[in-house]
Amino acid sequence: MGNPDEIEYVVLSMADIAEVEDLLALEFYPRENLSKGVHEDGNKSREGMHSKMVRLCLASGLTVGARDKATGSLVGVRTSYLTTRESERKSKEEKAKYSSEEERRMYVLLEKAKNSHDMFQDSKVKKVVDFDRLCVREDYCRRGIAKKMVEMSMALGVKKGCDLARVEVTSPYSERLFLGLGFEVKSSLDIKKETDLADASLMSYKQLTILTRYL
Ligand SMILES: CC(C)(COP(=O)(O)OP(=O)(O)OC[C@H]1O[C@@H](n2cnc3c(N)ncnc32)[C@H](O)[C@@H]1OP(=O)(O)O)[C@@H](O)C(=O)NCCC(=O)NCCS
Repeated sequence: MGNPDEIEYVVLSMADIAEVEDLLALEFYPRENLSKGVHEDGNKSREGMHSKMVRLCLASGLTVGARDKATGSLVGVRTSYLTTRESERKSKEEKAKYSSEEERRMYVLLEKAKNSHDMFQDSKVKKVVDFDRLCVREDYCRRGIAKKMVEMSMALGVKKGCDLARVEVTSPYSERLFLGLGFEVKSSLDIKKETDLADASLMSYKQLTILTRYL
C-alpha cells in the first residue's frame, strides 16, 4: 500500500467533488495547523467558503489528485485555482458567506497573509496558479506524493500561461517542500499576534507564510 509506483496522478474535475470533500474533511482539517488554531474541525467543510473554494479549484483544471491504482481511492489532493489582478479585485469586493465562525476566522487570516504581499506589483505577472489545500492521507505520507502533486500543478499552470505560483503554508514540512522546489518566502504572518482570531498554542507552526515561484 502506498508504493510510489502504485500511485496514479490525475487532474481532478467537478465529477470528483464528493471524494475531494471527504478527503479534506477527514484528513486536512483535523491535521492542518491553521485549522487547529481556529478550531475548524471540518464538520461544515462541505458548506460555505470551503465548498466555494473547492468548486473553484475543481473547475479550474489546475487541481491534482493522487489515486491508489489498486483501489482507485483518492489518497492525496493539491487544490489550485487561477488568479489574475482582476479576479483578485473582484473576490475582495464580494461578501463572503461563511458556514461557521471558525471558517470566518480561518479566511480572515488567510486574506490578511495574502494582502501582505502584492504579487501583481511585478508588471510581468499576469496569471498566477494559486495553491489552496494540500493534503495526503496519513497512511500514504512521506512517499513524495505531495511533492509530485505540486510539481504537476506547476506544469499545469505553465500550460495555462501562468507566470507565477503562490502558496500559503502552515506546516514546516510543506515549507521545506516548497523551498526545495525553488519557492521564495515573500511574507509571514505571526499567528501569536492574532489572539482574537486564533489560538497559536494549538499550532506547532505558528505562522502563515507566503511563498512564490516564477514559472
Ligand atoms: C504536509 C503533507 C501534505 C505532506 O505530504 P507528503 O506526501 O507526506 O509529503 P512528501 O512525501 O512529498 O514530502 C515533502 C517534504 O516534506 C517532508 N516531510 C513530510 N512529512 C514529514 C514529517 N512528518 N516529518 C518530517 N518531514 C516530513 C519530506 O521529508 C519532504 O521533504 P524533502 O523533499 O526535503 O525530503 C501531509 O503531511 C498532510 O497532508 N498534512 C496535513 C495537512 C497539511 O498540513 N497540509 C499542508 C498545509 S500548508
